[in-house]
Amino acid sequence: MTGASAISISGLHKTYANGLAALDGIDLDIHRGEIFALLGPNGAGKTTLIGAICGLVRPSRGSIRVCGHDIVGDYRSARAAIGLVPQELTTDAFVSVGDTVRFSRGLFGKPADPALLERILRNLALWEKKDEQIRRLSGGMKRRVMIAKALAHEPDILFLDEPTSGVDIELRKSMWAQVRALRDTGVTIILTTHYIEEAEEMADRIGVIDKGRLILTETKTALMQRMGKSQMIFTLSTPLQRIPDTLAVYDLAIAADGNELVYTYNAEEDAHDASVLIDDMRASNIRPKRIECRQSSLEEIFMQLVGAR
Ligand SMILES: Nc1ncnc2c1ncn2[C@@H]1O[C@H](COP(=O)(O)OP(=O)(O)OP(=O)(O)O)[C@@H](O)[C@H]1O
Ligand SMILES: [Mg+2]
Repeated sequence: MTGASAISISGLHKTYANGLAALDGIDLDIHRGEIFALLGPNGAGKTTLIGAICGLVRPSRGSIRVCGHDIVGDYRSARAAIGLVPQELTTDAFVSVGDTVRFSRGLFGKPADPALLERILRNLALWEKKDEQIRRLSGGMKRRVMIAKALAHEPDILFLDEPTSGVDIELRKSMWAQVRALRDTGVTIILTTHYIEEAEEMADRIGVIDKGRLILTETKTALMQRMGKSQMIFTLSTPLQRIPDTLAVYDLAIAADGNELVYTYNAEEDAHDASVLIDDMRASNIRPKRIECRQSSLEEIFMQLVGAR
């Protein structure tokens, strides 16, 4: 653990009462001031992990520190550092927008701050709705109220569990801008999303979780470089059983029952000259009759990562 960690998790396991191992050995450090996107299929354990950090789910094993505070031994300090926007909307239908946000701040023992309240509501385009009962708001507005509530006690760390599900694209983009603005004020942000483009747009770092295990944590830039992989797919006139040793310098794979030879290269690096590759193939008696080029997307890499398991 380093002093720069907003959250430090080690050896975290969670097995629910029914025997399901929702978290199966998580080690993760979230750096202060970063936007960390947690990606994974339905049921991967994202909400359970967030719940464990926020003290809503009791870990079966392992430890979690939030801003240096142990979430079990020093729960109040740990929890006070956190703002949580849960996946499920939980708001009091009959309370007004302004009151619910004010009340949230009070729960953390912080003195009323009308100027802060106004700023938060204005930033989320909710100021006009401050006296409206929550039940009269649209789904997207309710979600923004949840964000306002989570920010009311000025947390150092903000969790957004599927913040933009059910939010229209225009509003989603404005929420992305606001999340970035929050990060620029020093808030650490952890979000989950099923929109890969959202992670691509916002995240500094990406973690992929599947079946309760973190299968990857990487900066977005590094991941994008890996995702920037390109392929040339050669359709062969005669099926190929194995790749000849003479072609070992190339990153080649056989596909489509030997009918295709796939050359993968990283667009960032210097790829081999295609004409040289083709000459080398012909020298080995491999005759491509068609070439197709393609670029793999983040979505595909994600599917590969998760699908391979
Ligand atoms: N209270 C609970 N009791 C028993 N099992 C649970 C409980 N909560 C979650 N689970 C199970 O734990 C696993 C992980 O669930 P979790 O909600 O953490 O997934 P998730 O990654 O957030 O999924 P989604 O993308 O659908 O929100 C699932 O198999 C789920 O059914
Ligand atoms: Mg979830």
